[in-house]
Amino acid sequence: MSLLHVEDLAVEFTTRDGAVRPLTGIGFSLEQGEILGLVGETGSGKSVTAQAVMGLLPFLDGRVSKGKIRFMDQELTTLPETDYQKLRGNRISLISQNPMTSLDPVYRVGDQIVEGLRCHTGLSKPEARQRAVAVMSELGIPNAEKVFIQYPHQLSGGLKQRIVIAMGLCADARLLIADEPTTALDVTVQAQIIDLFARTVEKKNLGMIMITHDLGVIAHLCHRVAVMYAGTLVETGDVATLFAKPVHPYTRALLGCIPVMGMDEESLDAIPGNVPSVRTFPPGCRYHPRCPAVQEICRTRWPDTIDTPYGTRVACHQFTPQFTQQFSPDWRTTP
Ligand SMILES: Nc1ncnc2c1ncn2[C@@H]1O[C@H](COP(=O)(O)OP(=O)(O)OP(=O)(O)O)[C@@H](O)[C@H]1O
Ligand SMILES: [Mg+2]
Repeated sequence: MSLLHVEDLAVEFTTRDGAVRPLTGIGFSLEQGEILGLVGETGSGKSVTAQAVMGLLPFLDGRVSKGKIRFMDQELTTLPETDYQKLRGNRISLISQNPMTSLDPVYRVGDQIVEGLRCHTGLSKPEARQRAVAVMSELGIPNAEKVFIQYPHQLSGGLKQRIVIAMGLCADARLLIADEPTTALDVTVQAQIIDLFARTVEKKNLGMIMITHDLGVIAHLCHRVAVMYAGTLVETGDVATLFAKPVHPYTRALLGCIPVMGMDEESLDAIPGNVPSVRTFPPGCRYHPRCPAVQEICRTRWPDTIDTPYGTRVACHQFTPQFTQQFSPDWRTTP
């Protein structure tokens, strides 16, 4: 059984100007020991996907309007909040984009890391402290002993972010979701942290979802990748195959931009046109207004997700049976 299984997920937010539906038809699975990268331009629904899995939507005037989220043997979409609370920060841990949502301003940062450690390891206080300082050092925090006794407001944004990462790594989670965890950090520190994520996932046999704009991070860290566009999943597959043989025109456009670690937003912005906003999602395939391979069917009909001969999955009319019968594109010509 997969660690996490998401099926046909849709999300709806209530706003003053009516309902918005930022996610539709999202489905993926995650195994233990596996790192799944979630990539896509700004507003594509990556953070909302994380919020849905974490059960945070009710706090944001949102809800899961369709679909299933199964974690281990529990269905999460119907889980009462009291049970969700037990999962969060315990079995499922989120390293958020905004460190202040995870840090408590009135406690020393070291104590916040130690608290997570002691809950499940049975370490003595001095042992937990030693472990926490070691993790902080591994995250490239200089003078970790000194930072340990400081309060969040005394630290720079980059240091706060690394404390949140340390908390995530020290918790007893089976599933770790990291939402742009290294964006605020410089490239050397970033590489160090990515490496620590990889080692932690392997050592503890965790599942991890890595949300990022950075294709270099995906290439270095992730086993599989899911490409999101305007609230939909356009292509999923193992990283090596998908990078070597991208099928969806959006993925191909993304990869046409140089995947170098640290070069993030600029590379994604290089695709002509804009991501449609959640209120103006076009009918049919949501990528069709920007797609160089657009056909009539794309303007009106939602593309089914199909298996490619490479073992990846893609939602594009070019490759659905009715289209392939008509035009029979040769798979071998796909780069
Ligand atoms: N609480 C909310 N209420 C209403 N709409 C929301 C809410 N949170 C997110 N959205 C909308 O959902 C869409 C997806 O947002 P999301 O934050 O998931 O994007 P993202 O892929 O994480 O982007 P980024 O790369 O900028 O972090 C956006 O259009 C956003 O405006
Ligand atoms: Mg986000």
